[in-house]
Amino acid sequence: MLDAATIVQRFLETKLQVHPEVVRYIAEKDDPGLIDRIIANVPGDAVVVSVRHIPGLHPGRDGSRFLTDPECEVIRGTAGSSRAIASVADYSAYFRDRYQRLGECIRARAAPMPIEALKKGSRYRQEACSIMGLVVENRTTANGHRMVEVEDPTSSIQVLFHKDRPQFAEAETLVPDEVIGVRGTLSGDGRLFFAEQMFRPDIPLSHAPFRSEKPGQAVLISDVHVGSNTFLEETWNRFADWLSGSDVSYLLIAGDLVDGIGVYPNQDHELTIKNIYEQYEVFGSMLRDLPSRMKIIISPGNHDVVRQAEPQPAIPPEFSANFPKNCIMVENPAMVSLQGVRVLMYHGRSLDDFISLIPGASYDNSAPVMAGMLQRRHLAPTYGKRTPIAAGKEDPLIIDPIPEVLHTGHIHIMGVSDYRGVLCVNSGTWQSQTAFQKQMNITPTPGRAVLLDLQTLGYSVLDFN
Ligand SMILES: [Fe+2]
Ligand SMILES: [Fe+2]
Repeated sequence: MLDAATIVQRFLETKLQVHPEVVRYIAEKDDPGLIDRIIANVPGDAVVVSVRHIPGLHPGRDGSRFLTDPECEVIRGTAGSSRAIASVADYSAYFRDRYQRLGECIRARAAPMPIEALKKGSRYRQEACSIMGLVVENRTTANGHRMVEVEDPTSSIQVLFHKDRPQFAEAETLVPDEVIGVRGTLSGDGRLFFAEQMFRPDIPLSHAPFRSEKPGQAVLISDVHVGSNTFLEETWNRFADWLSGSDVSYLLIAGDLVDGIGVYPNQDHELTIKNIYEQYEVFGSMLRDLPSRMKIIISPGNHDVVRQAEPQPAIPPEFSANFPKNCIMVENPAMVSLQGVRVLMYHGRSLDDFISLIPGASYDNSAPVMAGMLQRRHLAPTYGKRTPIAAGKEDPLIIDPIPEVLHTGHIHIMGVSDYRGVLCVNSGTWQSQTAFQKQMNITPTPGRAVLLDLQTLGYSVLDFN
C-alpha cells in the first residue's frame, strides 16, 4: 500500500495539491498507475485535485458529502440527513438492508445457501454447507449447549452450538439481530443445524489504517453534562486552559453535552440549571472560551434535547444559536474525516444492551464491547432493548466504511484499546459520580481527554483532575 506522504509528494512534483479523500482513495486502491491517470484527468487550471478528478468515480456515490473544508469533513451524519420515525413497513426494509450489506462481508468466506433450500435437501445431512442470517434468539439448552435461531429472507432454523466445541464461546456472545454466517450440517430429521464454524462480518485482517500525511492533533471527549450538580467546572476550566496553549486542530464531543431535563425520575434535585435552553447557553459559552482556530464537532447523546431514537438528529439551531462559528453539528452516529483520518462518533447507548446481553461484559471495560461492535460491523444490532432505533430504508448504524477510530462515550469510564488496527476510544466524562451511579456501583473516570496524533494514530490520555 502506498503511504499518504508518497502520494502527496507525487502530486506536488506536478505542482498539484491533493484532497485528503483522494489520497485515501489511492492508498486503498493500491493501483500503481492510478496517480498518473488522475493527473491526466485534472484540467490545466486546477490547483487542488479533488474526488471529481478520479476517472470513473462519482463523488457521493457511497453517501459521502464533500464539503468546502478538505481537512474536516462530515462523511456520514451531516445535520439534516436523518428522517422521521419510520412506519412499520420500513422495518422490514431496514433489516433487509442490514442483511444484504453485512452479508457482503460474510459471503466471500461462507458461500451461504438459502435456509429454505437447505431444509428441503437431504444431502446436507452428511455434507457440510453454510447459511447466513439474523440471530432471532440465543438460549442455553437443558444440557448446556447453545440453541440459536437464525433467520434469512426464505426461512429460519435452530442452530446448535455444542458446549464442547471451540466455537461455543463465540456463540455465547451472539446478540439478537446481528448478522452471522454458520457452517455445519443438518440433523437427520432436518430440524436442526449443527454448527461447526461461525462467521461475523468483522474487520478484515488485512485492514491497514490510514494516516494523515501532515501533522495534526485531535482531542476526543464526551459526556460533559452541563447543568448537573456533579458537572466538574474547575476540571473543565483546566482542560480549556490547556487547549488554549495547545496546537490541537479538532475537538470531538460525542454526546451528553448537557444533563437535560426529565431524563430520569427526580432529576431536578440534581440540576444546578433547570432550564434546557440555559443549559445549552452555558455549554455554548464554554465553547466560546476555547480557541477559535479549532474545529469543534458536536454530536448528541441520550441526555440531549433531540429525539432518542438513533440516528439522533444534530442539535437544532434553536439550542445552538450562541455556539461559536467553529462548531459543526452532526448526528449520532456520524463519521468525520480529519485530514483523511476517519473517526466514527457514536454516543454509545447500545453499550447498555451489549453489557446486559454478553456474558462477562461490564461497564469497567469498554474494550471487548467496542471490539464486539467492530466484529458485528454494527453500532447497535439489537432492536427493542434500551437503544431506540428509528428504522429507515437503510441501516445507518452499520459500520461502513471502516474508520481509523471508533469514538464512544455514555458509560463515563475512559478506555482506549485497539481492534485489528481500529483505535477504540471511550472518552469518559466531565461529571463526578452521580447518586444513580453510586447505587449501581459504577465508578466513573472524569476529567480525562484523549489526544490523538493524526499522523501516527498514536494517542495519549490527558488527566485534568
Ligand atoms: Fe453521559
Ligand atoms: Fe449517555
